[in-house]
Amino acid sequence: MKNKERPIGIFDSGLGGLTVFKALRALLPAENLVYFGDTARVPYGTKSAEAVIAFSKEITAFLLEKKIKLLVVACNTASSLALEEIRKISPVPVLGVIVPGVEAALKAVPPGGRVLVTGTSATVNSRAYSKALAAAGARVRVTEKACPLFVPLVEEGWCAKPVAALVAREYLAPFRGKKIDALILGCTHYPLLKKIIAGVMGPHTRIVDSARVAAASARRELERGGLLKGGGKGRSEFIVSDAPERFSGLALKLLGIKTGKVAVKRF
Ligand code: DGL
Repeated sequence: MKNKERPIGIFDSGLGGLTVFKALRALLPAENLVYFGDTARVPYGTKSAEAVIAFSKEITAFLLEKKIKLLVVACNTASSLALEEIRKISPVPVLGVIVPGVEAALKAVPPGGRVLVTGTSATVNSRAYSKALAAAGARVRVTEKACPLFVPLVEEGWCAKPVAALVAREYLAPFRGKKIDALILGCTHYPLLKKIIAGVMGPHTRIVDSARVAAASARRELERGGLLKGGGKGRSEFIVSDAPERFSGLALKLLGIKTGKVAVKRF
């Protein structure tokens, strides 16, 4: 396989990373993409760092066998807890979603402004966003809030049900009226609840996610390495660790993505 023809690997615990897949597909229509969703072991956000690191390394090794030229860790939990370990075993560049999320937020927040980071318990406990915001030299006030029920709601396909609004109000209503300039959707599942979250926070708060910025940084990385595929229509391949039909049905229902046949890889 020619270098440029090699696919970009993308992975998440389940469906959420498809929000990043979609942004990559839109920005890089010629690229071949291979997506892995760890549907047998979702959610990651309530698991230990050891477990998330072990799962992430297994998936990375599997995607490397597919001769990927770049790996996008389309999962905030894995990006928070496992990025360093993934980089140690990967001969190809590895991009996470935390730094792109920070970049997107900084465009939406004035100096001295307030940022609310939402994410899984594991991401919030790691304080990965607070650290990345500080490392970016951001002069903002940061609060982090774990919203663990959001992932199962999305994985159930219940993004527009009244229960989703109820859960969002329970987590976020205390922050409404607190002059939050930007809310970071610090989990790749959360963009699927964006409308509901925006409705709770009110018009003052910009809702930001990392998908588009992550896609742009993938493009930059490929350009830098001379690996950008010029023309033609890219292929998309989807692999999950369990229940492929369910994944395929939800990808279509929630994101309008036609996966075709989804393969299964069990670990
Ligand atoms: N979508 C993932 C994230 O961005 C993981 C959600 C989960 O599996 O708990 O954190």
